[in-house]
Amino acid sequence: MIVIAIVNSKGGVGKSTISVHLGHALALAGKRTLIVDMDIQENIRIWFDAGQKEITLFEILVEGKKASEAITNVRENLDIIPSGGDNLGAVPYLLNLGIQFSGLSGNDRAALKKILQKIDMQWIFDLKNVTPEILKKSLYPLKNTYDFILIDCSPSRTLLHTIAAVASDHVMVPVSMEWLSVVGSAQVGSAISEVREKYGLSTDISFVVPTFVDRRRSRVCQEVNEDLAKMYGDKVTSPIRVNGKLSEAPSWGKTVFDLADRRGMEDFKALAKRVIQNG
Ligand SMILES: Nc1ncnc2c1ncn2[C@@H]1O[C@H](COP(=O)(O)OP(=O)(O)OP(=O)(O)O)[C@@H](O)[C@H]1O
Ligand SMILES: [Mg+2]
Repeated sequence: MIVIAIVNSKGGVGKSTISVHLGHALALAGKRTLIVDMDIQENIRIWFDAGQKEITLFEILVEGKKASEAITNVRENLDIIPSGGDNLGAVPYLLNLGIQFSGLSGNDRAALKKILQKIDMQWIFDLKNVTPEILKKSLYPLKNTYDFILIDCSPSRTLLHTIAAVASDHVMVPVSMEWLSVVGSAQVGSAISEVREKYGLSTDISFVVPTFVDRRRSRVCQEVNEDLAKMYGDKVTSPIRVNGKLSEAPSWGKTVFDLADRRGMEDFKALAKRVIQNG
C-alpha cells in the first residue's frame, strides 16, 4: 500500500481534479485505489455523485471509527472516504484540545475532568487519544486492501496537513501555471520538512505536477516550468493540460475516462504510469 498526499497551500490549482483522475487512472490500470477526501468542500464525494454517509473521515479521526466503515465504492477498483464536510473543519481545534489535555498535570487534570463530567462533556477527555498519527493508524488495517491511497488535501494550512503528511509515503504537489502556485509548492516543501524532522519520517515531495498547461500562454508556462525544473529536477512529472472537459465533468458526476476524452485520458494515464513506476 502506497499513500500519497496531494497538497498545495494555493487554492484552485487542481488538487481535487488530480485526486479524482489519478485515482480513476490507477483503478483502470488494475490498482486497487482509495481516495480520502480531507477537505470540507467534499469535492471528491460530489465529483463521483456519491450520497452522504453516516461515517466519514470526521468520525474516523475524532470518534475512532474504523476506516473500513466509511468506504463507498464509486468505480471498479476505486473507493472513496468522504470528508464529513464542515465537521472536518473542527478537527484541528479538537486535536489541539486533545494535545493540551494530554499535557495536564494531576490536580488540573482531575479538576477539569470533574467539570467536564458536570456539563456532560467528558467525551472531550477522550480526545487526548487523538494525535497527528491518527490517520496513519486508521489506514493501517487497509494495507492489504489497497495498492494506492490518495489523500486530497484542502488549501488551508492546518493540523490536517500534518495528519495527512504523517500518514503518507509521498507528497504530490500540483502546480498551476502561476507564480503564486510555485510559492505554494515551496510552502508545502518547508511544512513537510518540519513534519519529517518532528516525527522522524522519510516523507517528502516526490511528484510535482504542472497543471493548467496551456499552449496559448506559452511564455508564462515556460517561465513556471523553468522554475519547477530548477527547484524540483526530475520530480517534475508530465503535465496536465488545460482542458474544458475537466471543468465540466464534475457537474455530470463523470471523469474524463467515463467521457472517453482523449486529451484528459492521455494526461492522467501518463501520470498514473509515473506513479506506478515510482513504486
Ligand atoms: N487542467 C484543467 N483544465 C481546466 N480546468 C481545470 C483543470 N484542472 C482543474 N480544473 C478546474 O479548475 C477548478 C479548480 O480545480 P480543483 O478543484 O481541482 O482545484 P483544488 O486545488 O482542488 O482547489 P481547492 O484548493 O479549492 O481545493 C475546478 O473547477 C476544476 O474543474
Ligand atoms: Mg480541492
